Amino acid sequence: MLDTTRAVFQRYQQEILQELHRAFRTKQALLAEGINYDDLLMLEGQMQYHLGWVDQELRPAKGYSGKLLRPILLLLGYELACTQEQPASQNTLPLSLRPALPAAAAIELMHNFTLLHDDIQDGDIERRHRPTVWFVWGVPQAILVGDALLAITRLHLWKVLDEGVEPATALRLAKLFDTALLHLTEGQHLDMSFERQQQVSLSNYEEMISRKTAALMACATEMGATLGTHNTEIIEGLACFGHALGLAFQVRDDMLGIWATEAELGKLPVGDIYRRKKSLPILHAFQQACSEDQSIMTNIYNQEAPITEEQAQEILAIFARTQTKEYCAQVLAWQCQQARSALSQVVSLPSAHTTRAQADLEALIDFVEGR
Ligand code: IPE
Ligand code: IPE
Ligand code: MG
Ligand code: MG
Repeated sequence: MLDTTRAVFQRYQQEILQELHRAFRTKQALLAEGINYDDLLMLEGQMQYHLGWVDQELRPAKGYSGKLLRPILLLLGYELACTQEQPASQNTLPLSLRPALPAAAAIELMHNFTLLHDDIQDGDIERRHRPTVWFVWGVPQAILVGDALLAITRLHLWKVLDEGVEPATALRLAKLFDTALLHLTEGQHLDMSFERQQQVSLSNYEEMISRKTAALMACATEMGATLGTHNTEIIEGLACFGHALGLAFQVRDDMLGIWATEAELGKLPVGDIYRRKKSLPILHAFQQACSEDQSIMTNIYNQEAPITEEQAQEILAIFARTQTKEYCAQVLAWQCQQARSALSQVVSLPSAHTTRAQADLEALIDFVEGR
């Protein structure tokens, strides 16, 4: 990762992590609520395990909590939108992030809730270099941990009211939030149903990733903008940018799902092949393969038995013959260009804040492109 990109990821890391911790009740607060059963403390601990804060015995740990990309997008969207409505004389004053922090934490918690359930749906036994919640505590319990996390997520969003955000704005945020969650659920539904479907077109694929991934990134930038301004052009422009970046992000995730190593991924590699996912590499290879290779792929994907390591290698060889990696890299570059263009159309007044926020968002596009 470039130093400039690392600086963007680190800029608000502490503020976001502190705000995430505020979403959880302390042990003392739980006890004060009369919760003195080990089992309920365990549910709280299991959510925190997923976030990387405690180990399997629920002892404090320094696990990896993820990149925090969505809250960073929300805060940068807020900065870009907010400074635009400040009089020029105030443009150099430090901008308080407080009004946006509860929403930033809420969107990261929502992301984590969806990952927790996604690991059950995908049967993944590792995430962020650690065993997944369902793998440690079983599927019924993991569903429950996800449900509790979603409740905490939505409760935390309302804390924007404690930061002086107008109730009408808070209601708009809540609607954006729940709409994104519904879209994400629809995207996950499409993703899972495509596993069993023979014919999946590239436009089906785009519809699926638009919902399962881009909806939440668009929600992040749109919420940030909504907190910062009433200007609908800016709000829509930032939503458009978040959506384009989200599409690019999923294309890259699909590439990593095939060609990244276990160390880079934090989970077992080539999982998308074993799970028969209709990710971009698989769709392209099937379209471009000669008829012999198409039959090999069809037979492997239609067999009842689990895909073997040898068969996964055969599929990788077909990817090489169809230049699938090169194709995916082109799609990624094009989609990142769409994100750059959407960002450049967000009209910003020149100020120290907007110039830096804009440069940070551009650095995030470069990161997604793998530069
Ligand atoms: C993973 O997202 C889920 C996808 C949408 C592909 P991230 O790669 O942002 O996950 P973390 O939070 O950094 O682990
Ligand atoms: C990402 O799904 C989108 C959501 C979690 C809703 P994936 O299944 O493609 O993501 P990873 O690769 O497991 O993180
Ligand atoms: Mg998954
Ligand atoms: Mg999935």
